[in-house]
Order: sequence, then structure tokens, then C-alpha cells
Amino acid sequence: MKNTIKILAVAVVMICFVSCKKDSKPNYQYMPNMYEPVSYEAYGEYGVFPGGQEAMLPAKGSIPRGWMPYDYENSNVGYQKAKDTLKNPVRYTKENEEKGKELYNIYCAICHGEKGDGKGPLVKREKILGVPSYADIGRAITEGSIYHVMYYGINSMGSYASQTNEQERWQIVQYVEKLKADLEGKTPRIDTDVVVTEVKEEEAHHDSTEEHNNAH
Ligand code: HEC
Repeated sequence: MKNTIKILAVAVVMICFVSCKKDSKPNYQYMPNMYEPVSYEAYGEYGVFPGGQEAMLPAKGSIPRGWMPYDYENSNVGYQKAKDTLKNPVRYTKENEEKGKELYNIYCAICHGEKGDGKGPLVKREKILGVPSYADIGRAITEGSIYHVMYYGINSMGSYASQTNEQERWQIVQYVEKLKADLEGKTPRIDTDVVVTEVKEEEAHHDSTEEHNNAH
């Protein structure tokens, strides 16, 4: 009998605890300062902020770190301007060419072909038409125009601005120029360090530090 009363008492206490829990409400917090930070939470609601939300839109005109605005318009005029004036800021090294090749084979070779002759697998299977060879005389592509069409796309070719960053696009440009040179039987451009002979000690030192800075 005594035991039954004890068991009943424990059961009543337990039921009390369990019945306080509601699925539609957050559970009880026994030591709230373990859960609630003193600082504002990223997506919290606080009256002090405009709109009552901690997370706010970036200030007008902000640009993401590492992103550079591209000044050439998506128009025929912008295309022509890029073709004539835009130059590759990335050095033409073997490493950049290798990286460009890797990216080219991922993004471009499916249409343009591994040699850049416009005979990629999709063209051979007649899935897409009108893919030009990079050596096409009528188009006379330049480093600026290659970058421009990668940025905006051109007719049935899409834009590659979201898949690649600026540096990667310029590395692809170098590789496309290499393919073009190969198709035309020319020597591809590779920038070698300027070799300065017969300069005084100090000047030689000065030059090499400057070159070092340029490389970065
Ligand atoms: C889906 C197939 C496809 C893919 C993938 C593709 N292209 Fe193209 N590309 C085309 C077609 C089609 C044209 C011709 C567009 C036109 O002028 O009508 C073209 C044209 C070009 C031209 C010449 C544009 C000019 O100035 O006349 C260049 C340069 C070029 N592509 C580079 C690239 C590079 C670099 C990549 C990879 C980042 C790439 N393409 C990926 C289909 C493709």
C-alpha cells in the first residue's frame, strides 16, 4: 500500500513535468543565458533596427570582395570596344596556360572542340550549329573579344560569368589564344621575364624588385 502511494506520487510529479511541454511552443529553458547570446543574432528580430530585423541589405553601391565591375556594355558597341581595347591583365605563363586548358576542357571543348576548331562532340552529334573555329578569319577574335563573349555570351553561346571568376576567364583567354595560334601555325605567346644584361649592380637589383612586384 505504502509503495503504491509512492509510485502514484512519483507518477503525478512526472505527469506535471510532461504536461508543461507543448509541441507548438519552444520548450522551457532552464538556464537561458546558455542559449541566448548577449550580442544580436544574425537573423534576430530587434526593435532597434530599421524594419525590426538584424540582417539588413548591403549599402547601395556595395560590391562583393574580389569582384571587379566590368565596364563594357552588352551591346555591339561594347563588343567592338572590348575587341579593340581590352587587354589580358594576367601574365602569359605556362602555369596560367595549363589552368586555362583545364577550364577550357570543362566549359568550352564540348562545343568548340579540344583543338578549338569548332568540332566539339555536340557539333559532331549535330546538337548545335554554327560553332566557329577560333582561326575564323572573318571573326578575327582578340583577347578582349574572347573575354567579352565569355562574360555576356553571344547568340546561342551562353555566359560563363557565373561559373568562372575574373582570373579564370583570363586564363581561358590565354588558352583560346594558344589554340588559335596552333590552328594558324604560329607560336603561342608566352611572357618571359625581361632579361637585362650589362646593368650596374644597383639598377639590376632595382629592376628585379620591380618585376617581383609586377608579378603579384
Ligand atoms: C553550347 C556550345 C558552346 C559552348 C559550351 C561554348 N561556346 Fe563559344 N560559341 C558557340 C557558338 C554557337 C558561337 C557562335 C556564336 C555566334 O556568333 O553566332 C560561339 C562563339 C565563340 C567565340 C567567337 C565569338 C566572336 O567574337 O565572334 C569565342 C571566342 C568563343 N565562342 C569562346 C568560347 C569559350 C572561351 C567558351 C568556354 C568558356 C565557349 N565559347 C563555350 C558555342 C559554344
